[in-house]
Amino acid sequence: MSKFWSDIVHKLTPYVPGEQPKLENLVKLNTNENPYGPSPKVIEALKLEASDSLRLYPDPNSDALKAVIAQAHGLNANQVFVGNGSDEVLAHVFQALLKHTLPLLFPDITYSFYPVYCGLYEIEYQTIPLTADFTINIDDYNQPNGGIIFPNPNAPTGIPLALAQIEKLLQNNAGSVVVIDEAYVDFGTESAVNLIHQYPNLLVTHTLSKARSLAGLRVGYALGSPVLIEALTRVKDSFNSYPIDRFASAGAIAAIEDVAYFEKTCTQVVATREALIQDLLRLGFEVLPSGANFIFAKHKTYAGAELTAKLRDHGIIVRHFKTPSRISPYLRITIGTDPQSKLLLEALSAILQ
Ligand SMILES: Cc1ncc(COP(=O)(O)O)c(C=O)c1O
Repeated sequence: MSKFWSDIVHKLTPYVPGEQPKLENLVKLNTNENPYGPSPKVIEALKLEASDSLRLYPDPNSDALKAVIAQAHGLNANQVFVGNGSDEVLAHVFQALLKHTLPLLFPDITYSFYPVYCGLYEIEYQTIPLTADFTINIDDYNQPNGGIIFPNPNAPTGIPLALAQIEKLLQNNAGSVVVIDEAYVDFGTESAVNLIHQYPNLLVTHTLSKARSLAGLRVGYALGSPVLIEALTRVKDSFNSYPIDRFASAGAIAAIEDVAYFEKTCTQVVATREALIQDLLRLGFEVLPSGANFIFAKHKTYAGAELTAKLRDHGIIVRHFKTPSRISPYLRITIGTDPQSKLLLEALSAILQ
């Protein structure tokens, strides 16, 4: 607290990201990064970019990157907005499209950055409880609102919502912007992107941090009707004209163009996930259905906090949400490589004995 702070700063409760440990040799299964490196073509593109051209500002409109993203999704470039990670894209979405007199709606258990943006931009919101089995019931969103946002698959549960349900939600809320945060969509969840052609109130956000293994490069994007994209561009150009630097643009383009590598690594992550789920069930865990690169699991006797601490003693870090709630018994475990799954299972077997 300081008298030098603006009033709003006193009221903020900032987001706390998962730990990025300084210790080496930990099995890091806590922040949903991809266990495989980015495509080798990304590394090549980054090397080429390390040149004299770095003295020049990048393209403020990121036209080359937008063109590649638009083509990948069968859209026009004016239906694409790009930003410095999807967190930055989401920040602009909250300010540009979700601040209205009526409250914004999102699930009570969801990406914990959403209430943080509401605090920053002073947006009124109301949380809608997930059902007893942690799913989203779209009928619960049939109430006057200033917008709706949730991830699909949801985080941290990993549970996917069927496309038909999203379409119904869009129809029921034609007067509001509905944002589907598809950070984890490439690990087995149906994307809503094709609905953009029919629903001008739909905005879909994507990130290159997960399926493209580029969390360190910071690129995310939003897809939607030109009128929604224009609102985001107006906010961005009032904030930072050059959010995508030359490396980010070159790396992101190479990653999106290497479809074969993307498909191969996503398939491997899904295969590892399915095998891990079976092994965890055998160890006495309950695991929620996952369409993501992580699983949400609780043990029938051991508490979430205790297991998390004991796994850390074995050099394995997973995510546990400490605030007492119905998700306290759960661990969120990022899917790593098969050898990392093996280490996790060995550690759990030792702990549970
Ligand atoms: C649901 C969800 N949306 C968005 C993000 C932000 O991703 P990034 O800013 O790396 O693009 C995350 C990151 O973990 C997430 O879990």
